[in-house]
Amino acid sequence: MKPSASTGDLFADVQGGVEPLAEGAAILRGFVADEATLLEEIQRVAAAAPFRQMVTPGGYRMSVSMTNCGAAGWVSDPRGYRYDAADPGTGMAWPAMPESFRRLANDAAGATGFAEYVPDACLINRYEAGTKLSLHQDKDERDFTAPIVSVSLGLPAVFLFGGLRRRDRPRRYRLESGDVVVWGGPARLTYHGVAPLPEGEHPLTGPYRFNLTFRKAL
Ligand code: SIN
Ligand code: FE2
Repeated sequence: MKPSASTGDLFADVQGGVEPLAEGAAILRGFVADEATLLEEIQRVAAAAPFRQMVTPGGYRMSVSMTNCGAAGWVSDPRGYRYDAADPGTGMAWPAMPESFRRLANDAAGATGFAEYVPDACLINRYEAGTKLSLHQDKDERDFTAPIVSVSLGLPAVFLFGGLRRRDRPRRYRLESGDVVVWGGPARLTYHGVAPLPEGEHPLTGPYRFNLTFRKAL
C-alpha cells in the first residue's frame, strides 16, 4: 500500500480504510504498516515490566494480562484504579514509550480529526483464548478532551462498542491485526469491551492478541 505523505513510510495509507463508529469515533482498518516492530517493542517493554494479571478493587483477578509504558501506567489493585509512574511489581518507573508507539498514536488520532495528540500512557493488554474485557468506560484520566487510541495486534477479536450508558447495547466489530480504533470528543466515554478471545494461532504472535491503549492520563 502507498504510504501517505503525512505519516511517512511506517504506516499504511488510511484512505478508504476508515469505518466511522459514532461522532468522534472510527476504526482505521489496517492502519499499522509495521506490526513486527511494534511487537519487538512490546517484548522489550515486557522484559523490564512483565505482564501480570491485576486484581480489581472488588477482588477479582482480571483474565487479561497487562503491562505499561510511558510516564504513567494504569494499575488496578484492591485500593482502586489509578495511574502510577512506577510499576508496583518492581518499584521502578515504567519503560519509556517507544517513539514508534508515540508516532503511531499521534498519526491515528490525527487521521480521526484529533490533532496534536500527545499520549503519556500506554497500557499493553495481552489476551489468550478465553480471556475478555467486560464493558467499561476509560475514565481514570484527568482530561477527557484527548481521545483514546487503541491498536490491535495478533489474533483477531470481537470489539464491543456501546453507548454512553452502560445499558446501551454494544455493537460488535471484528478487529484484525493492524486495525486501530480511536474514540474521543462526544464518544470519549463510550462503554466498550472485548468478547472472549477464540483460540487461534497467529503468524506473528502465536496464541495471543496484544492491544496497545494510548491515553493522555495526566
Ligand atoms: C481496552 O479497553 O483497554 C482494550 C480494548 C481492546 O483490547 O481492544
Ligand atoms: Fe478501555
